[in-house]
Amino acid sequence: MISAGRTARLAITPLRSAHAPLLFPLLADPRQYQYVPEAARASVTELWQRFDELERGPALGANELWLNWVLLRHDDGAPVGTLQATVTPGDHAWIGYALFPPAWGQGYATEACAWLVAELPARWHVTEILASVDTRNAKSIALLERLGFERAATEAAELHGEPTTDFRYRLPCTG
Ligand SMILES: CC(C)(COP(=O)(O)OP(=O)(O)OC[C@H]1O[C@@H](n2cnc3c(N)ncnc32)[C@H](O)[C@@H]1OP(=O)(O)O)[C@@H](O)C(=O)NCCC(=O)NCCS
Repeated sequence: MISAGRTARLAITPLRSAHAPLLFPLLADPRQYQYVPEAARASVTELWQRFDELERGPALGANELWLNWVLLRHDDGAPVGTLQATVTPGDHAWIGYALFPPAWGQGYATEACAWLVAELPARWHVTEILASVDTRNAKSIALLERLGFERAATEAAELHGEPTTDFRYRLPCTG
């Protein structure tokens, strides 16, 4: 079962299909897709279906775990973004994070990801956390480096139909 979390300013709540109407307008802002292989969904129904797939998780027999959360501010209950992790065989986890643009620049992503990098080894026995980031995504690179991730590789990638380059970052989990 996906754990819920709590930080100083955020409730980290498992993402459900029922979050679609709340998040749909916030996920419409194209700025958040500049460096990620995603796009805004055309309707609440499409978003609901996507969240439903995420909530159900991978096909039976697939040897991985999908963890998805929505970040809600304690003071007014407003959603500020989403957080995800895919735990794969070998006790690795790939993480993803996205804040809605009005929430950028206030430290929410650092706060949520600091919780995540502590939660993954403690609850899921993850020994290495990985993240892939477009080399132009300066805000995301700064976030990973703030959290102690080290750059491990530079890899060819594709984004919105164009060839691009990603950095792979890694954080070994100690203790
Ligand atoms: C990547 C992303 C999450 C980074 O968001 P962010 O707002 O820069 O990161 P944080 O929330 O940790 O905020 C850090 C900034 O808030 C500032 N800040 C303000 N109050 C703060 C506080 N209380 N605590 C910490 N930092 C604070 C920091 O100084 C920093 O500012 P700077 O960018 O001028 O140095 C965001 O750009 C995003 O969602 N992008 C779209 C999706 C995406 O690209 N995801 C990553 C794919 S790899």
